[in-house]
Parts: sequence; structure tokens; C-alpha cells
Amino acid sequence: MLTEGLVVVHEGMGAEEQRLRRLVLKGPIAKTAQPGQFVAVQVQDLSISSFDPLLRRPISLAEISPDQDEITLLYRIQGRGTEILARVRCGERLSVMGPLGKGFSLPEVGELWLVAGGIGIFPLYALAQSALAQGLIVHLFWGGENQSFLQSAGLPAWQALGIPIHLSTLDGTLGDKGLVTEQVLRRLAQLFGQTKQEMHLSTQQITVATCGPKKMMQAVTELCYNFRVPVQVSLEERMGCAVGACLGCVCTLIDEEGTLIHKKVCQDGPVFQGEEVVWDESC
Ligand SMILES: Cc1cc2nc3c(=O)[nH]c(=O)nc-3n(C[C@H](O)[C@H](O)[C@H](O)COP(=O)(O)OP(=O)(O)OC[C@H]3O[C@@H](n4cnc5c(N)ncnc54)[C@H](O)[C@@H]3O)c2cc1C
Ligand code: FES
Repeated sequence: MLTEGLVVVHEGMGAEEQRLRRLVLKGPIAKTAQPGQFVAVQVQDLSISSFDPLLRRPISLAEISPDQDEITLLYRIQGRGTEILARVRCGERLSVMGPLGKGFSLPEVGELWLVAGGIGIFPLYALAQSALAQGLIVHLFWGGENQSFLQSAGLPAWQALGIPIHLSTLDGTLGDKGLVTEQVLRRLAQLFGQTKQEMHLSTQQITVATCGPKKMMQAVTELCYNFRVPVQVSLEERMGCAVGACLGCVCTLIDEEGTLIHKKVCQDGPVFQGEEVVWDESC
């Protein structure tokens, strides 16, 4: 759906050097959106009547509030498009297309483990809210560069959810020093030991959803596979049209018969089952 969103909040998040921003839009998208879906935001500089940059920028739905008709987008200023977006002011209208793509699916019961690397945390907040509303137990595993990043990127909002949070930083300024995957591995090993039979029975209670750098998601998928835990991954790809027409975002997957297939991240994803992704080829 192509629509306009009224900008009701647009502000910096945390430390300025993190270049993170929070944008709340009022409009109809919130009524049908699901966690893991995204919108394609127009980022043209309308003050100079320019069509440049031509392509919309994909941003995940960080929060979905159907009662208020509001969606929240959290983003990092990366380049030209997000720099233009950062200049949009409250009260202005922004052209957005969405909700786009296929999001996460929640298990009916058990525990949902969210594993995030860096700003991969952003689409997971809406998922956590849905899971908690459904009565699931939610754990967050989140790795980032340092304390300043984690605080700026929304840690206080996560703490307010009252869920167990397992943090890692590369420099050790908050949580464990190291990679978030080490924490996930440690917890899986603590819970299930090494007996394959035991693992098979008990890990059925856990579902993992992950978003972040490709290498991290690949590592999460591999270790979940070893413990027979199902994992959903949210792939990120440079996008053109964002609606399945240009083939700009194609990634390689493997189907149940072992055949390599191609799918579009914008339309068939961005969320896929980890085990179907061919990591060395896709994205
Ligand atoms: C489905 C999806 C959801 C996304 N959700 C979010 C979100 O919630 N918050 C957020 O901050 N960002 C998100 N992104 C990434 C965001 O779309 C890009 O940061 C943005 O398009 C950059 O545009 P730009 O014009 O500012 O930068 P550009 O000038 O286009 O690029 C600047 C730099 O960023 C790199 N880059 C740009 N886009 C991507 C990409 N998709 N993947 C990897 N590297 C890229 C470029 O290689 C370049 O080095 C998402 C991307 C996808 C595909
Ligand atoms: S971005 Fe055009 S097909 Fe996905």
C-alpha cells in the first residue's frame, strides 16, 4: 500500500555519534502490519523538487501500535538517503509503501529467544511485544560495539519489558566481552548438555529469531541447527523496487529436496527459516 504518514515524533536516540533516530508515523499501515515486515520510505529532498535519490529506503517496523494508528521506525544515518530522511520534521507527511514482505511467525508456546547484532535489534522489539502479549517467555541476546551503542539503540526500552537480557560488547564496557553468539551457545549448552536425545526433546520448546550482520546470523543458524532449535533469520539486502518487480534483492535458498532456488528478500522475506538460507551465496 502506498500511503502518507504524518510525522508525529522524529528525534535523535542517545549519543549523537551513534547517528540513530526514532521516527513515529501516524497512518493506516499500523492496522495490518506484522513484526518483521518493513516499509519503503521516500527520501527525496522535496524542497528542491528533486527525484534524487530515486529509490525508496527499506526500514523495519520497530513498533506497531494499531490502536494509535502509529508505526515506529528506528534507523541509523548511513548515507545520502537516511541523511535526507533525518531532516524531515514533525508535522510533515512522508510517503511510505507498506507493510511489505513476510515477517516472523510466533510459536504457539514455549520460549522465544531473540538474537540481535547491532542495529539488527530494531525489528525485534515489535516481535517481543507480540510474543509477550501471547504469553510466551522471551529472552534477548544482544551484541553491540560498546555500552554507548546499546544504551543509545534502545536498551532502556528493552529493560522496561522486564525480560531476561544477555548483553555482549566487543570492548567489554557492558555485559560479556565478546560475541553474542558465545552467550547463546553457553546458554544452550547449560540447558541441554550434550545428549542428543535430551536435546531433541527439550529444545522443541525454544524458537530463535535473529537479525543482524550476515556472519552472526549464519553462526546463530549453525549453532541452533546443532541443538535442533528452529531459527528464523531476517535477511538484509540492498533493494530497488521493494515490491518484487526488479529482482534486485534475490537471494539463494535450498528447498526440502535439496534444490537451490532463488527468492526475493523484499517479497518472500525478509524473514526466512535459517536452514533454508545458502549463506555463502545469498546476500
Ligand atoms: C528489509 C530491510 C530492513 C531494514 N531495516 C532497517 C532499520 O530498521 N533501521 C536501519 O537503520 N536500517 C535498516 N535497513 C538498512 C537501510 O535500508 C539502509 O541503511 C538504507 O537504505 C541506507 O540508505 P542511505 O541512502 O542512507 O545509504 P546509502 O548511501 O545507500 O549507503 C550508505 C552505506 O550503507 C550501506 N548500505 C546501504 N543499504 C544497505 C543494506 N540494505 N544492507 C547493507 N548495507 C547497506 C552501503 O553499502 C553504503 O556503505 C534495512 C534494510 C532492509 C533491506
Ligand atoms: S527490491 Fe525489487 S524485487 Fe526486491
